[in-house]
Amino acid sequence: MAKLGVNVDHIATIRQARGGTDPDPVTAAAMAELAGADGITVHLREDRRHIQDRDVMLLRRTLQTHLNLEMASTDEMVAIAMKVVPDYVTLVPEKRQELTTEGGLDVVKHKDKLSRHIDLLHQAGITVSLFVDPDLEQLKASTRVKADFIEIHTGSYCDAKGKDQVAELTKIEEAVKAGKKLGLGVNAGHGLNYHNIRPVLALGGVEEYNIGHSIISRAVLVGLDRAVREMSELVRGS
Ligand code: PXP
Repeated sequence: MAKLGVNVDHIATIRQARGGTDPDPVTAAAMAELAGADGITVHLREDRRHIQDRDVMLLRRTLQTHLNLEMASTDEMVAIAMKVVPDYVTLVPEKRQELTTEGGLDVVKHKDKLSRHIDLLHQAGITVSLFVDPDLEQLKASTRVKADFIEIHTGSYCDAKGKDQVAELTKIEEAVKAGKKLGLGVNAGHGLNYHNIRPVLALGGVEEYNIGHSIISRAVLVGLDRAVREMSELVRGS
C-alpha cells in the first residue's frame, strides 16, 4: 500500500505572514498524523521563508511517524541534519528567487558534492532520497552517489495538459520501473492534488507520495483533518 507524507510548509507560510506563532506547523503535523498521515515532510529553506529551525527540532521530538527533511545539499544544511537526525533527508535543488522547487537535482553535474553529503548523512544513520526529474541518466547517477531513494518530480506532469500530460505520465511510469530495477526506493511528489494524482496512483510502484500545497489549500476550506483523510483514502486505495 502506498504511503502519504504530508508536507506542512504552508502552515508555516501562514504563520510567517505575520511573524508570530500561529498557526504552528508542529500542531498541524500532529493533527495530520491523527488523520492518517504516514509521515511528515518539511523543507528547511536557506532563506527560512516558512519552516524554521525550531520547527524541525520540535518535530523530531514529537512526531509519532517519520520525519522527512527536505533541504539543499549545502554544508550548513548537512550540519543541521546531522544534529537533528531526521528519518529521511530529501536533497532538493534550491534557488532563492523561486516560488517553489523548480525541477529536479542535476545529480550528474553535482555528483561529487552529493556523494560527500550523502556519505556524511549515512554516517549519521539517515536514509537519503534525491529529488530528480523522471530521467534515466539522473536515476543511474543517483545509484552511483549511493542514494537510498529517489523522489520523482511530478511537477511537469501536473503542469501539462492533454497529450503532453500523457507523455509526462509515461516518463513517470518509466522512471518508477527504472528506479526499482536499479534497487532504489521510489517516492514521488510536487504539484499533486486530489484530481491529478489518480493516474499516477494507477501506475503503482511508488512507496510514498509527498504532498503539501493541495492538502493545506483544502484544509483552509474543510479543515486539516478532513483534507488529510481524503488524500490518505485516495493514496491507500490505489
Ligand atoms: N516534494 C518535494 C521534494 C518538494 O520540494 C515539494 C515542495 O516543497 C513537495 C514534494 C510538495 O509539493 P506540493 O506542495 O506541490 O505538494
